[in-house]
Amino acid sequence: MNNRGKLIIGNWKLNGSKQLMQDVLTELGQALNNQKTPDNFKLAICPPSIYVSEMIQLAQHSGTHLWVGCQNISIHTQGSYTGELSATMVKEAGCELCLVGHSERRTLFNEDDQSCQTKVRLLIAEGVIPVLCIGETLQEKFSGKTREVLSRQLQQALEGTTLTEGKQLYIAYEPVYAIGSGHAVMPEQAQAVHSEIRLLLAELMGADIASQVSILYGGSVTRDNALNLIACPDVDGLLIGGASLNAQHFRTICNQVFSLAPVFNYPHKMKSYENYMDAS
Ligand code: PGA
Repeated sequence: MNNRGKLIIGNWKLNGSKQLMQDVLTELGQALNNQKTPDNFKLAICPPSIYVSEMIQLAQHSGTHLWVGCQNISIHTQGSYTGELSATMVKEAGCELCLVGHSERRTLFNEDDQSCQTKVRLLIAEGVIPVLCIGETLQEKFSGKTREVLSRQLQQALEGTTLTEGKQLYIAYEPVYAIGSGHAVMPEQAQAVHSEIRLLLAELMGADIASQVSILYGGSVTRDNALNLIACPDVDGLLIGGASLNAQHFRTICNQVFSLAPVFNYPHKMKSYENYMDAS
């Protein structure tokens, strides 16, 4: 049994507009008003940071229970770093969470585990929840290195991080080859890897903390595969790119997750996937 509930985060990347904010909030407002939102369900959107404040205002105005987050912060706290955003600014703008180390940041902007570590610490210090993104490439998967890669990414990014009372951390498992490919991994794979991530977290931060950290799956989540993924006991949430840009699709996914609410806190009976990691 766990108290982690379920969480959906939309990652708009370099997409979106004022119109999309309106459309998504209208759809979500309907989804959230048509049925009682479960207490242990959280919904968040990370638009481009220029839209954050307006999105927060629109959500408050429409009474939609929505968290708004950023997609990245600087490793610096202030100074001559043109184009950057600090953790303090993100907090001040009203963000509840912020992505760290998304694979596009790692591959396109040379972010490494060391910078992830700095960002995780800065965000936790501000009380903004870091969503640490980790994941292996296809080549690493086929060379049987999934566990090794995830372990390194977690260890290096979380070194020296402690979660004191009230501080939170989310992990997003995003296999690089699944992102934007149209092919999510099978729920069995997601479950196996997530439970391995939880074991790795237990080694790093202790079993108590590991059992409280929400682990999200990301990579080509759609309204057709979301329900089977979110139903896995160690898949505590979904990080959704493309499908979060379609207001109706995003709403459908939220409704599907609500439909699971009565069983959020109960262990699901699933077949054992223990061998997946060794076979990967
Ligand atoms: P996708 O993106 O859902 O479009 O695959 C997920 C992500 O990159 O966070």
